[in-house]
Amino acid sequence: MQITVLSGSPKGDDSVTLQYVRYMQKTFPDYDYNIFHVARQIRKLERDDKALQDIVDKIVLSDAVIWCFPLYYCLVCSQYKRFIELIFERKKGEAFRNKYAVSLSTSVHFFDHTAHNYIHGICDDLEMKYLGGYSAEMYDLVRSRERARFVQFAGNFLKSVERQVPVSKQFPPLVSSEFVYEPGPARQAVTAGNKKILVLMDEEKEYGNIRKMIKAFRGNYVHDIEVISLTSIDIKGGCLGCCQCGLDNVCQYQGKDGYIDFYNEKVKTADIIVFAGEIRDRYLSSRWKQYFDRSFFNTHIPTLKDKQLAFLLSGPLAQLPNLQEILSAYAQFQQGNLAGIVTDEGEDYICLDELLGDLAGRLVELAQQGYVHPINFLGIGGMKIFRDEVWGMLRLVFQSDHRYYKQHGYYDFPQKDFKTRRMNFFMMLMTKIPAFKKKFLKMIEKEMVKPLKNVVKNK
Ligand SMILES: Cc1cc2nc3c(=O)[nH]c(=O)nc-3n(C[C@H](O)[C@H](O)[C@H](O)COP(=O)(O)O)c2cc1C
Repeated sequence: MQITVLSGSPKGDDSVTLQYVRYMQKTFPDYDYNIFHVARQIRKLERDDKALQDIVDKIVLSDAVIWCFPLYYCLVCSQYKRFIELIFERKKGEAFRNKYAVSLSTSVHFFDHTAHNYIHGICDDLEMKYLGGYSAEMYDLVRSRERARFVQFAGNFLKSVERQVPVSKQFPPLVSSEFVYEPGPARQAVTAGNKKILVLMDEEKEYGNIRKMIKAFRGNYVHDIEVISLTSIDIKGGCLGCCQCGLDNVCQYQGKDGYIDFYNEKVKTADIIVFAGEIRDRYLSSRWKQYFDRSFFNTHIPTLKDKQLAFLLSGPLAQLPNLQEILSAYAQFQQGNLAGIVTDEGEDYICLDELLGDLAGRLVELAQQGYVHPINFLGIGGMKIFRDEVWGMLRLVFQSDHRYYKQHGYYDFPQKDFKTRRMNFFMMLMTKIPAFKKKFLKMIEKEMVKPLKNVVKNK
């Protein structure tokens, strides 16, 4: 049985994730594994169609494909995303049809599910038979219980391929639109005052809906606002995952391209940032992904705190709840306020003019108020993962995060809360007394709401 492994780490052979495949190879040696470092070699694959075709030819001969990748910003890295784009752009999709597939990742479990959902969706688009995803924590392989679990997963995967098990699809094909937007007159006359607005955009088409949406959006401001195309930024390449930035936020690319200066001088100084672009496959473009990945020189420190954020998107966002979640997670992790997302899906010029006008006004109003929407499970859960990781395993490499987390009170572990611990200890003992327990159970409801009622009463 032939298995093609599409390795999605920029680190190639030194990839943490790849070690899981190597372990699988040793555990199940009677299979042929063809490993391709598609993320590391993306430049070559873009340039040299023969090199890409060699991989595709192997896939044609394979029984199954392992999508093996590290998590990068809730998805795969930009180089891997580009590989996926190449499959569709160069019309190589047929080779993947009816092949069994699994996704295998390592990460710290921060939005690992959205990356697996993405790959699952891509597998469904390619009409592959997706057998599931395995999301390992980076060092699971050194833990015997986790090793055993992984071996079971890999064994079941191989068995399923041998048995040719039936598989159902989860993600319906995306329905795209031919709608061409023609902007009408501006709906608002907004004065941004001292609020600095930055629009970042990526659009392949010369004058597609994104450029027109930006034009209409921009027209609502009395003064001109800054619009920067990602293609105009000097970016030499994607994040290499070296983590050299961990000690003091100095990236390996420092002084070698313009990205870091751009991020520090333009992005960090803006009050309002609008991200604009087309949906490509089930995410934005790989260039957008490169922009997000490269911002990792800030490691796990939020850099868009209190800023107003918005997205102008062309494409079927309503059909992509996974992407919606990624965009919300990004804003929440960055501690910015996701003020709105406007897409061209409504296929209605007038409505789109109004939405863009309203967004233009709302962004400034919210910036003036300094409003940031409360975070939900996405932001709270995510921050707790980072807090625990930076406190523990990641601290040595990510020393700069540790300093920031310490200074900003991120280490809010409950064990430091001595008052609550004392109270819990005493009250838990008391609830062992039957008479007190009876009274306590009757009190719970009233006591729970008491502090809130007091606030309402004193208003
Ligand atoms: C740019 C960048 C972004 C990352 N984003 C995430 C993330 O969103 N979620 C997560 O859990 N881990 C994230 N990580 C951690 C990596 O997924 C993790 O270290 C992985 O094991 C690296 O695997 P590799 O050695 O195979 O490249 C990120 C790392 C880098 C360098």
